[in-house]
Amino acid sequence: MQPRHNPQRVVSGMRPTGRLHIGHLSVLENWVKLQEKYRCFFFVANWHALTTAFEETGLLYDNTREMVLDWLSVGIDPDISTIFIQSEVKEHAELYLLLSMITPLGWLERCPTYKDQLLQLGSQGKDISTHGFLGYPVLMAADILIYRPDLVPVGEDQLPHLEFAREIARRFNHIYNKEIFLEPQAFLAEVALLPGVDGRKMSKSYNNDIAISASSEEVLSKMKMMVTDPARIHKTDPGHPEVCVVYTYQKLYNPGEYEQISQDCRQGRIGCVACKKDLAEKLDAYLTPFREKRQILEAKPNEVREILAEGAQKARTEAAAMLVQIREAMQV
Ligand code: TRP
Ligand code: SF4
Repeated sequence: MQPRHNPQRVVSGMRPTGRLHIGHLSVLENWVKLQEKYRCFFFVANWHALTTAFEETGLLYDNTREMVLDWLSVGIDPDISTIFIQSEVKEHAELYLLLSMITPLGWLERCPTYKDQLLQLGSQGKDISTHGFLGYPVLMAADILIYRPDLVPVGEDQLPHLEFAREIARRFNHIYNKEIFLEPQAFLAEVALLPGVDGRKMSKSYNNDIAISASSEEVLSKMKMMVTDPARIHKTDPGHPEVCVVYTYQKLYNPGEYEQISQDCRQGRIGCVACKKDLAEKLDAYLTPFREKRQILEAKPNEVREILAEGAQKARTEAAAMLVQIREAMQV
């Protein structure tokens, strides 16, 4: 295969976790930007969800739909990006099988995420010493390599998996003596690290998150839970914005005023209640267009299903063509 020319391609996936929170916004907004410049494939990694939660699949359909609604509401555009569910494109599974034949067991056992998660989930009483979990990086490599992307936007935690995909690509090309796969680059966008309202890592399981789809009332009530500088009792006490969660958010959602707020806080000229109210308004205004887009989509119950069906169709065409070449190289 010849190296491909423009447009360059991007592939990325997310496990279906349901409604996303505003901590995920920078990742999604990054996808939205990428789709302007690249041919993008964005998919719901529902098989990957099974690797750690094969016993709790009751919410998978719902979680997939809710997550895709979030993608669409922030501007992932099905007219220019290919959006689909992993399990709808069986070619990923065929490539997963073929790649598993050439994957040395040691590469998987050495994978840092494998060892970490096995211990971490093991300590929670969850046994995930399955074939599927061990093979997580092989499946992810198949997801990626089957579209011959140039770039893969991923979080830092996924870098070992991407490196694994590059190594498998190289190994395949070497064994079968053909340039079938490209070695894609990681695309590490700047990700704003947003704490949860209680100052811990933002997570649905801590109930300290703010959903992208939160209503104005929800935004306001989460704002009330948000922790401020504990040293401030009275409005006139000098504050320390650098230790305040509200201020971390002001920097992101109130770019025009946060410097003034910092001064006012330090000099005891603004109270935390007013500061939170101000932030609630800014954040609410930021989320309003997403909320409106979501409502339009929710009003058409078949819309998401149709988008995903069409996306799977397009992805399948690409993946199937690639598999022809792969099988030919392997002579199977
Ligand atoms: N493992 C990724 C995560 O948990 C999800 C994923 C699966 C993915 N396949 C992928 C990401 C392919 C990028 C490309 O975040
Ligand atoms: Fe935080 Fe604002 Fe209160 Fe200062 S005034 S401590 S920045 S909430």
